Amino acid sequence: MRSETQILSLCEIEKQNGYMASVREYTDCLFAENGIRPRVFVLTLGCQQNVSDSEKLSGMANEMGYDITDTPEDAHLIVVNTCAIREHAEKRALSLVGQYKHIKQKRPELIIAVCGCMVAQEHRVEQIKKSYPYVDLLFGTSSIHRFPEFLASKIKTKKRALHFHEPERVVAEDMPVHRDSSYRAWVSVMYGCNNFCSYCIVPYVRGRERSREKQQIVNEVRELVESGYKSITLLGQNVNSYGKDLDTEYDFADLVQELDSIEGDWWLDFMTSHPKDASRKLIDVMAAAKHVTHHFHLPMQSGSDSVLRAMNRRYDFEKYIGIVDYIREKMPDATITSDIIVGFPTESEQDFEDTLNALRRARFDMIFSFIYSPRKGTPAAEMEQISDKIKSERFERLLATQNEISLCQNKPLEGKTLKVLCDGRSKTDDGVINGRTEGGKIVLFEGDDSMTGKFLNIKIERGETFALYGKVVK
Ligand code: 5AD
Ligand code: SF4
Repeated sequence: MRSETQILSLCEIEKQNGYMASVREYTDCLFAENGIRPRVFVLTLGCQQNVSDSEKLSGMANEMGYDITDTPEDAHLIVVNTCAIREHAEKRALSLVGQYKHIKQKRPELIIAVCGCMVAQEHRVEQIKKSYPYVDLLFGTSSIHRFPEFLASKIKTKKRALHFHEPERVVAEDMPVHRDSSYRAWVSVMYGCNNFCSYCIVPYVRGRERSREKQQIVNEVRELVESGYKSITLLGQNVNSYGKDLDTEYDFADLVQELDSIEGDWWLDFMTSHPKDASRKLIDVMAAAKHVTHHFHLPMQSGSDSVLRAMNRRYDFEKYIGIVDYIREKMPDATITSDIIVGFPTESEQDFEDTLNALRRARFDMIFSFIYSPRKGTPAAEMEQISDKIKSERFERLLATQNEISLCQNKPLEGKTLKVLCDGRSKTDDGVINGRTEGGKIVLFEGDDSMTGKFLNIKIERGETFALYGKVVK
């Protein structure tokens, strides 16, 4: 039994299906009049959870008769799925929305929707209402399943449909999904976060933790593997909390173990784990599994115990490094990646040095590094802030230290043959094919388009800081 969470009721799903059908009638009329199907452009900012939400928005738009385009200039419907994690992400969203104004001036029939984490904040909703009058639809992360309803209302009444965030107690199942890739897929296992790290906006914009029913997840993963997907990533803000809101002993490690029994040649990955909840049981399951990648993304955020306390992370460096050591003991070939924030309020020069030393001790293969960005409404935004100059100077030192470590982690791979999932032509160098190892390391090699979406064995000839270079082994 769930306490507060409700699976979206059948009646609500039928209601949304009804709205989808009415928008479909409208797009069919446009098609009959003009001979072309209207097009939707979905722009995604932020994390993998947003990518996954956008696949649902595209799936619904598709079902409502829109073809998908990757150029906003020829779209009839633009959906901007926003992020709020740092100020930069919000500025980018607002500036992009600003650019779409010019398209709407040329074609007033264009419908512009803004959704996602940024608009789950009241002050941003007010700002868009007032300063972006050409935005037609507005809805937060918890209302994504109501996109058809909002769109139908706009088409029918011609009025803006601006919906502020609703309480996030819903897990929406059985929504249409348009997956961007035919071999890499994202599967949410839980939504929201209860941790309230003092710098983070996520618990405010994505609400409390709620898990999907295990059978729904197992069915979805099985269908994906059967239809040829090679890499499946389980998503959640804190996957190790999976199941805690369901009245059951079944936890995330059990889920991973059950999914691992699905037959086929495929990889199972997950993110993100909170160090306070990452269990030995999960690591043991990973080490014994067939399909689970030896990759652990374990955000450390800081190497200083006093900063970790001020961040409300609820672990210290000793506990953290204990998990890293256990992962390496059970899986010596594991790729370990992390998130680090520099310039958190209270971070002294000594605290920062502690973080650099922690990097040297943990030997991450790669880190995602961030300059602390104050978020309105979070406790850390009220603390005394560090100057931008010190923040960027520490950021440079952090990158330099990690680059040396990444190089040291990649060099010993020279001469080894690694299994790589091929992603096709490299964006930066058209003549080169790129893929990723199970730990997400980029591998560059010669090949052709027929390799895309396939597993290949690549003999590594050169290990550099940001990539491995090799040759296909026949
Ligand atoms: N400022 C900078 N980085 C942040 N992160 C989350 N909130 C902030 C913030 N306010 C980082 C954390 C988290 C990652 C997804 O984003 O490192 O793990
Ligand atoms: Fe944010 Fe902390 Fe939750 Fe991660 S665990 S989403 S950093 S509050």
